[in-house]
Amino acid sequence: MVKKKFEKICVIGMPGSGKSTIGRALSDYLKFDFYDTDEQIEIESQSKIKDIFNKNGEEYFRKLERSIFKKLILKKKIVVSTGGGIVLKNKDLLNQTFNIYLKCDLETLIKRTSRNKNRPLLKNNVEKNIKILFNDRKEIYNETSDFTINATSNTQKTIKTILEHLNQ
Ligand code: S3P
Repeated sequence: MVKKKFEKICVIGMPGSGKSTIGRALSDYLKFDFYDTDEQIEIESQSKIKDIFNKNGEEYFRKLERSIFKKLILKKKIVVSTGGGIVLKNKDLLNQTFNIYLKCDLETLIKRTSRNKNRPLLKNNVEKNIKILFNDRKEIYNETSDFTINATSNTQKTIKTILEHLNQ
């Protein structure tokens, strides 16, 4: 049994830090429901994230992201993997959750995100754009985090460290 303060867990961090993989695995171990904000946005809007950015712009996406995140965190016993930009507009909501920050070095982030072309904010020049996002956000991730973990190493090790913390 985990403590009450761990009943609403959010996984935060840069694109490519492994939020969805870690969040899903963590929810399995804890027997909590798993949600991914990007997945929920795509289900509710019936559109792909990149199409929302292309058609309606980032501001519209952020509003959608906030309204979906606000609804999700009303639930209990959840693990929510968030989009990398969740920390930009939702500090008030993230105060109500236990936030695990997957900290990852730039080299790994670049390697992981270069494989996938579905991230509108990284398009055209992944390396340059990820560095910009990282510099703009690193302080916000640190401030929002309740537990920070180096997520450059393998998934099993990361999960084990998180579970040890939650069971303390
Ligand atoms: C974003 C990250 C994406 C997605 C959207 C915006 C961001 O999610 O929410 O493209 O602002 O960093 P991932 O972090 O899962 O790539």
